[in-house]
Amino acid sequence: MTRKIVIFDTTLRDGEQSPGASMIVEQKIEIAEALDRLGVDRIEAGFPVSSPVQFNGVKSIGEAVKNATVAGLARCKKMDIDAVRDSLANCPNRMIHIFIATSPLHMKYKLQMSEDEVIESIAKHITYARAQGFEEIEFSPEDASRSEWDFLLRALKAAVSAGANTLNIPDTVGYAMPDEYGELMANIKKAIPELSQRVKLSAHCHNDLGVALANSLAAVKAGADQIEVTLNGIGERAGNAALEELVMSLRVRKDIWNVETNVRTEFLYPTSRLLQTITGLLIPRNKPVFGDNVFSHESGIHQHGVLKHRETYEIMNPAHIGRNTQTLVMGRHSGKHALKRKLKQYNIVLHGNQMDTFYQKFIAIADKKKEVFDEDLFALVSSVLGEFPTGWCLETFQTWTGNRVIPSATVQIRKGDEVRLGTQAGDGPIDAVFKSIDECSGVSGRLAEFIIQAVGSGKDAQGQVKIQVDFDGIVTDGKASSTDIIEASALAYINALNRMEMICDGEKSSKSSGENKKIVRQTV
Ligand code: KIV
Ligand code: ZN
Repeated sequence: MTRKIVIFDTTLRDGEQSPGASMIVEQKIEIAEALDRLGVDRIEAGFPVSSPVQFNGVKSIGEAVKNATVAGLARCKKMDIDAVRDSLANCPNRMIHIFIATSPLHMKYKLQMSEDEVIESIAKHITYARAQGFEEIEFSPEDASRSEWDFLLRALKAAVSAGANTLNIPDTVGYAMPDEYGELMANIKKAIPELSQRVKLSAHCHNDLGVALANSLAAVKAGADQIEVTLNGIGERAGNAALEELVMSLRVRKDIWNVETNVRTEFLYPTSRLLQTITGLLIPRNKPVFGDNVFSHESGIHQHGVLKHRETYEIMNPAHIGRNTQTLVMGRHSGKHALKRKLKQYNIVLHGNQMDTFYQKFIAIADKKKEVFDEDLFALVSSVLGEFPTGWCLETFQTWTGNRVIPSATVQIRKGDEVRLGTQAGDGPIDAVFKSIDECSGVSGRLAEFIIQAVGSGKDAQGQVKIQVDFDGIVTDGKASSTDIIEASALAYINALNRMEMICDGEKSSKSSGENKKIVRQTV
């Protein structure tokens, strides 16, 4: 029988930690359900102790996901383990991922703990997690690839003795080279007999030197049972090993690896598009597997070859990764049914009111544009999932601008019955709109990033604005699109404002209820 590689997806934890990738709960649920349909085996949903938003995200994902096992991350601390236990209380297939650093550098400067203290903490907290009812426990010695061999082995053995059943070996800072990482994995496998029986060996590789995929493949060769990945390779700094690169390497070169995964590769591209739409983190044209250039051929010789026989210059069949070649353009007469089918092609299923809101937005766009392209539909999905029904919304705005006037704006926003009006001048119409919104909300935001892009092509294309705003130390992202770029900017700014208020409200309510008193803002 062919060996199965377990795919542990950490897009919603390690991936979401990367700048610009933060998502609200509705967006996380949509991605988690799409990953589940894609066929990943394990989904790491977040780090629940770190904030009320994270806690609710892990809880909602745990309740929404049907097939995959859902994991929550915890440091070697009882309050972290309690937060994973509580957030996954209603999750049918749950697991906990416990980590502590084992490299001399991390133990000395970050943890300020001795080797003995670290070993004691591993044993104590894995035992505690068992007592909380966790049957699946993954342990990660953070910065494993820069840890000393004897101590690393001691830490891994302590974890297995206490009850861990997956040992994950993080190349936390992307330092290891493929031969070295493969050797490390093979040596661990040899040294811990349980790894050939009840305990899984897992790889977790970062891409700082561009070798995360090569290291993950070296781990497969060395006998790893599980590989940790993120979709589109998003993640801390240069990101993690990319799910699509790993899965397609294993599929295209099955002659070498001779392993299988449960991933339904025809959902890969649609799910990548969904993630790009939701986060606004677009992949470059030359990105392996998904980039626009992968299946386009510029030079005459290549074009000639591909026309004669596709495989001359293409090693993957676009259909195998779900690259849809026929694009059905939608218009104002397209019905809800056709739209639902179209979304399903892209591995998107909207629930309850979401589909009604989507349809209303679609009709509004179709009234403005003759043809509605797939890119427009993605922008609409993103705005439906990114909405804050109880937050601020834009009621009206007006701007005055030109090369001989001082640009100014008047903006009216509403939250429930509360309506506020602001009028300000600025360096340009967008700056004036942002200042007017600040006047309405009473909070002054500093713009840290502003990106505007056309959605699709044509003069009537929507403009998509992605911004990052620093509201007095709380940095949030906002995203919106419209055929009017000033409106898209105003909506994106209000989106960022709503996120900031959601974070503050979550912190206030957890403090006042005392329930989740232990939940603190914390990053890994
Ligand atoms: O890269 C890393 O070390 C991690 C751990 C939390 C597993 O993401
Ligand atoms: Zn990581």
